[in-house]
Amino acid sequence: MHPNKLPKSIRFISFVQIRVAFDGVPWAFIDMAISREISDIDNRFYKAADPFFAAHPDQALTYDDVTLATLYSDILPRDTQLDTTLADGLDLNIPVISADMDTVTESRMAIAMALNGALGLIHYNMEERQQLSEVSRVKNHVHGLIQEPIKVSPDQLIGDVLKMVEERKFEFRTFPVVDDSGKLLGLLPGHVVKQRYAKRKVVESLTPRDQIQTIRKKEIAKDPITRADKFFTDHPGIHKLLVVDDDDKLHGLFTMSDVERITQEKKAQFKPARDSKFRLVCGAAVSATRNMFGELDRDLIVAHVGALVERGVDVVAVSTAHGFSKGVGETVKMIRDAFPKLPIIAGNVTSAAGVEFLADAGANAIKVGQGPGSICTTRVVAGVGIPQLTALYVTAQAAASKRVSIIADGGITKSGDIVKALTLSQAVICGGMFAGCPEAPGQIMEINGKRYKQYRGMGSLAAMKAGSAARYGHSTTTPAKVAPEGVEALKEATGSVDVILTQLIGGIQSGMGYLGAANLAQLRQKARFIRVSPAGIREAGTHDIVEVKTGRVETGQ
Ligand code: IMP
Repeated sequence: MHPNKLPKSIRFISFVQIRVAFDGVPWAFIDMAISREISDIDNRFYKAADPFFAAHPDQALTYDDVTLATLYSDILPRDTQLDTTLADGLDLNIPVISADMDTVTESRMAIAMALNGALGLIHYNMEERQQLSEVSRVKNHVHGLIQEPIKVSPDQLIGDVLKMVEERKFEFRTFPVVDDSGKLLGLLPGHVVKQRYAKRKVVESLTPRDQIQTIRKKEIAKDPITRADKFFTDHPGIHKLLVVDDDDKLHGLFTMSDVERITQEKKAQFKPARDSKFRLVCGAAVSATRNMFGELDRDLIVAHVGALVERGVDVVAVSTAHGFSKGVGETVKMIRDAFPKLPIIAGNVTSAAGVEFLADAGANAIKVGQGPGSICTTRVVAGVGIPQLTALYVTAQAAASKRVSIIADGGITKSGDIVKALTLSQAVICGGMFAGCPEAPGQIMEINGKRYKQYRGMGSLAAMKAGSAARYGHSTTTPAKVAPEGVEALKEATGSVDVILTQLIGGIQSGMGYLGAANLAQLRQKARFIRVSPAGIREAGTHDIVEVKTGRVETGQ
């Protein structure tokens, strides 16, 4: 066959192969290469999203109902890119979000997610004041120069400092000491912040001003991290560098570990997700709060979002069980009008009309998922909801025409589910996958020698009593009288977020390698689906073996 007559469907043949063929390798070789790539036989069985879902209009499908067909690939998994844009100004390096649930995401989880290039949504089952300080903690974490370091005053007792460390869950104990005007007096070293010195005053225990290392603010203006990095190399044993102005007033603090992490980041494939000021990204959930007359409390909602924005929040999520509802639409519109540029996530929906409704109200990214969550009983209690893959396909059609993103929320139990979800969406939200991590709120409990953490639905009775009833359209004052749509459960304690994300990212990259997709846009464009039989599902898992584990996965614990 002459090359000009090659069918258009040959998309993956590479330049090198053509040149080799022109150089004298028989055309039969090319024919062989071609038939390995795309064939009409494949096309009859493995279908792109449109023909596949059109062929299944009367059956709602979820992740395990389908599998993806492999395609010719010249992409190595490790070379695939996972960056995603959820809204103007909201870019992630990893398309994974930790759920805004009170047993999943507070500042510690959000920090770990952002450091991995992902995003955490801080839940709203807490006082507004506390949610604001959780956001601040994320935004102030490791951004090289800590501009507002926590300070102590010379007259404070060490006991008071200890109390502050415990109450605010600080992971450090060394504090600059300043006078009323902000002038630096010394450094309180961590090794004296101990119960045995509780009755001593800070002034008796500090390292005095003339013995601590400082740098002038104007000296670091150009490239603070390189300057601080050089300082730590030149001063072995010094781990903190304080920044002062010409009047010796404190303006910031570098710690060696922060600086080292940031210099390391420059080499990492998946860089932390940061805002334009180099702070970690952070999201926060807001609720469609109603006043005592049952009307949306506009002032309260706008003031809440305003306070979050002041703390530097990158995105707010209007999180409810039924996003295609008047109150949620009005809440989104209220926030959009008050904060024209703020990225807004809203949900949850499972219909095209629901996506259009929230997009028209001003949302940038729409959460899709009603009933797939591991702790969720919505489908059982209300008889409502759509299996996740069909819901994603239907909503993705509307999202494309409205130019908004889709986030697959709930039901993810393995990395393969994420690959399938990303064929139709821009990111996934996981609750259960992260609930056993040390970074999730809550203590580890031991039962029969096994270690667990609590994981509960935000629509469980206990969570609704703690504040989330509005998410399920119930009164916050009488949650005990309603039917819960979630359960309280336990998750086995797992390794850290770093360990879990490494596994998930590895799986996503493998999936992309099998499909020859270099990035997420190519994954969405190339995916070919086929239904799996119950026997096929059994075949997909390990079977007919006794599994033995000799290699150990680093758990990070
Ligand atoms: P998972 O990742 O399968 O554990 O699901 C987490 C998702 O379930 C969350 O992001 C929410 O969208 C959803 N969810 C959280 N709490 C409840 C509940 O009580 N009932 C129903 N869905 C819930």
